[in-house]
Amino acid sequence: MKKIIITLDGFSSCGKSTLARQLANELNYVFIDSGAMYRAITLYFLRQHIDWQNETEAVKALGKVSLDFRYNPITGNSDMYLNDENVEALIRDMLVSENVSAVSALKAVREFAVAQQQQMGKKKGIVMDGRDIGTTVFPHAELKIFVTADPAVRVERRFKELFAKNPNITIEEVKNNLEMRDYIDSNREFSPLRKAEDAIVLDNSNLTREEQLSLALKWAREKI
Ligand code: C5P
Repeated sequence: MKKIIITLDGFSSCGKSTLARQLANELNYVFIDSGAMYRAITLYFLRQHIDWQNETEAVKALGKVSLDFRYNPITGNSDMYLNDENVEALIRDMLVSENVSAVSALKAVREFAVAQQQQMGKKKGIVMDGRDIGTTVFPHAELKIFVTADPAVRVERRFKELFAKNPNITIEEVKNNLEMRDYIDSNREFSPLRKAEDAIVLDNSNLTREEQLSLALKWAREKI
């Protein structure tokens, strides 16, 4: 069977990562959450108090960042490692969410992450989710999916997810963060969030996880 590259892009909290992970499991492909990489870089910049608007400082700091995904036998998923430290939980923190879009808008950061993502796709057999995967990282991917969902549904889903870990979080905070990230991600100069021309739109507002998976699997199998 032919191995392909599958990209999933879309706004924040559309359920891209969940679908990408399920697809990868079904197809026995590698799953890469590209957002985790941008979050880990942001965590490093915050911890080291990097003035990232200063390009020289940002580039110097990136030289000290090493990212990799490692399998976690307990969850069965891959965790994000930053300089050999498991930061999977830390990168989901609100402080990281509040700064990640600004950090991701930097040219040096994008070049750093995109080069590694392209390397990961060399052997194909990969499902990667993010914002610019179908447009910039793998413009020749065999299957591109652009995931959307009603904004209210997205806020609700994200709130439930975050509330389980932090009962102090408010729905307003979550809504503001999603709106801010979507705005910055869509309006930045370098690889803004866009639907690739040849991407299929998947609106999952009224779909169960099983329904969206079976649709995506059908599209994937048509290409394999
Ligand atoms: O996917 P997730 O919501 O975790 O991504 C966090 C942030 O990382 C996004 O809001 C966006 O700013 C950035 N990102 C990006 N390009 C990608 C993936 C994520 O700019 N391919």
